[in-house]
Amino acid sequence: FAFTPDNKAWAEAQITKYPEGRQASAVIPLLWRAQEQEGWLSRPAMEEVARMLDMAYIRVLEVATFYFMFQLQPVGSVAHIQICGTTSCMICGAEDLIGVCKDKIAPKAHQLSADGKFSWEEVECLGACANAPMAQIGKDYYEDLTEEKLAWIIDEMAAGRVPPPGPQNGRYASEPAGGLT
Ligand code: FES
Repeated sequence: FAFTPDNKAWAEAQITKYPEGRQASAVIPLLWRAQEQEGWLSRPAMEEVARMLDMAYIRVLEVATFYFMFQLQPVGSVAHIQICGTTSCMICGAEDLIGVCKDKIAPKAHQLSADGKFSWEEVECLGACANAPMAQIGKDYYEDLTEEKLAWIIDEMAAGRVPPPGPQNGRYASEPAGGLT
């Protein structure tokens, strides 16, 4: 793994933001940039981040495995779907959403769909409990989901269209022009 020249320059600029001896504080932004470049975090990418920050590889791995935002295996080329399975979402139908993922993507979490476009996993609370059940798809939250809505969103994305994120039950459909204040 090697950062592209632009990403390398960006990463080196991040490192200079921290006091001498505290370069490890840049680990999350560097991991994030590496993931944006590759689509996921390979071991060589984490080793490169460790080398740049003068950290032990295991310390970088500890950070990368702590956060759901980091993917340690290849993800779908169109989207990685993270279904919240914590209490509010579980009560409101997370298991049904996971069933949709098993049917339409792959029977097990972190497996790629046959066409390589999608992958999925169950995650802990994503902080949108009032709009349960919900999922993070790519970088966006899709909330107030039903099995039918999630299946439709996956089909739309497979066809190259991106449904608007946010509540999927029309909750904010009458939002006034100019947005909520
Ligand atoms: Fe699902 Fe909090 S329980 S977002």
